[in-house]
Amino acid sequence: MPEIFAILITAVWLMLPAYIANPTAVVFGGGTPVDFGKKWRDGRRILGDGKTFRGLIGGTTCGIIVGLIQMNVPSQWSLGSFTLTTIITLSFGALLGDMVKSFFKRRAGFERGAELPVIDQLDFVAGAWVLTYIFDPQWFSENFTFRIIITVLILTPILHRLTNIIGFYIKLKKEPW
Ligand code: CTP
Ligand code: MG
Repeated sequence: MPEIFAILITAVWLMLPAYIANPTAVVFGGGTPVDFGKKWRDGRRILGDGKTFRGLIGGTTCGIIVGLIQMNVPSQWSLGSFTLTTIITLSFGALLGDMVKSFFKRRAGFERGAELPVIDQLDFVAGAWVLTYIFDPQWFSENFTFRIIITVLILTPILHRLTNIIGFYIKLKKEPW
């Protein structure tokens, strides 16, 4: 039992920059959309109004700030060491993954905000992992061990659901997903 607890805490610790970037993009979101309102050749929006510069920049910045704090936590309390590169790739990658998801969501004909179970919950995890792996594969494989990866995949949809229900009730989000 204590070991499961340690794995859970480590998983959250390692994912924290991404876990912060994703909801703070919602908090800071609004204004000019990243696709500037432009349409793809299928006549639908490239990304849609749900992906804005403010969300992208605000979310990435918040994720990086939290990562910087984590980097400066005294080593006896630290649960894994970040690098400047990996806090950036985890934060920015999370929102990049979310945008890539929206791109394919629009191509598949889903309107902005339409619910896509699993995909809506793990898009940012995939983005954070892929970008981090590209920039520092060694750091990634040393920290994201098989059991940490499995834990994140199970835990994230639960945490995502919870934060979105909260976001919905404090009127930050239009839909509770
Ligand atoms: N948001 C933003 N910029 C981002 C990501 C999110 O402004 N890069 C804000 C938008 O206000 C968005 C809200 O956060 O509506 C919720 O994000 P998300 O669920 O990812 O977007 P959806 O509106 O559901 O759009 P999509 O269907 O494209 O996922
Ligand atoms: Mg959504």
